[in-house]
Amino acid sequence: MRPKISIIGAGHVGAEAALGLVTKDVGDIVLVDIKEGMPQGKALDMYEAMPLLGSSVSVQGTNTYDEIEGSDVVVITAGLPRKPGMTREDLLKTNFEIVKGVCEEVKKRAPNAVVIIVTNPLDAMVYTAYKVLGFERTRVMGMAGALDSTRFRAFLAMELGVSPADVTAMVLGTHGDLMVPLPRYASVAGIPITELLPEEKIQAIVDRTRTAGTEIVKLLKTGSAYYAPGLATAAMVESIVRDLNRVVPASVHLEGEYGIQDVFVGVPVVLGHGGVKRILELPLKEDELAKLRTSADHVKKLQEQVDALLG
Ligand code: NAI
Ligand code: 2OP
Repeated sequence: MRPKISIIGAGHVGAEAALGLVTKDVGDIVLVDIKEGMPQGKALDMYEAMPLLGSSVSVQGTNTYDEIEGSDVVVITAGLPRKPGMTREDLLKTNFEIVKGVCEEVKKRAPNAVVIIVTNPLDAMVYTAYKVLGFERTRVMGMAGALDSTRFRAFLAMELGVSPADVTAMVLGTHGDLMVPLPRYASVAGIPITELLPEEKIQAIVDRTRTAGTEIVKLLKTGSAYYAPGLATAAMVESIVRDLNRVVPASVHLEGEYGIQDVFVGVPVVLGHGGVKRILELPLKEDELAKLRTSADHVKKLQEQVDALLG
């Protein structure tokens, strides 16, 4: 039997994630959305592209949750994206209600699934999901570091005029201005970027990475980024379903790692069957660790807002 992947929220990010998974034949896809006809239309459109893609999975669109039963992975992108002038945190109350409602359905219908949250404000929404689902921490995670890292890699490749595929880099922390790009762990085909670029250039790229989401919101004017977010999500799903053990930063519940307790924040993890197989504890310098803890303190405050909403 092929793996089953359900994507709740068939908007920009959900549909792009689905297309990424269909393109690589990762598993059967169920697209769920509240908009009548929209997930069905997108699923049919995607299915019609399959002869061109050479894929053979199934893609189904629906407005109910019956079809998600038995899912191996559930991705949640349901919720509002921000508009120009809004922060991700401005979405907290509205998206809390949406994510809570979706997770209640997922808990009933797909109790064995690994769940990946994409909805913003990311770390607070993963916390919401964790509380509502009641699953073990290995099966509830947030996608953000995968996106922030690919952006960091892309900007480094642009600056150096090299293939983005040859750049590796890691961004930890919360998904927002307090994220923590780690230049010391970035390299081009094994060459540390600190050997290739002057400090001020690296700093400019770090700053651009931190505000990369806002840069796209300003350009699009009607919503936020979706190609890179969708494909970053698909890469996480693929690693889980195919047991690839890819090392990806993801927002997970820290229980003492990095000296951080009871906070969802982005750290490197190994993704495979069952979800998060391991949390990697990188040796960090004092200033890097301080930035990660500042990030965690920020999320802690948002988690308190979620606690108040949960009552
Ligand atoms: P979108 O507006 O294109 O799609 C969201 C979809 O959710 C809509 O189709 C809407 O009908 C659906 N929806 C709303 N309530 C629902 C419910 N109760 N059940 C099922 N579906 C429901 O937005 P887009 O661009 O796809 O973004 C989705 C979310 O992902 C936003 O919150 C955005 O901020 C976030 N995001 C997070 C990223 C990350 O790195 N974590 C990156 C990009 C976006
Ligand atoms: C982004 O970083 C909106 O969080 C989304 O593009």
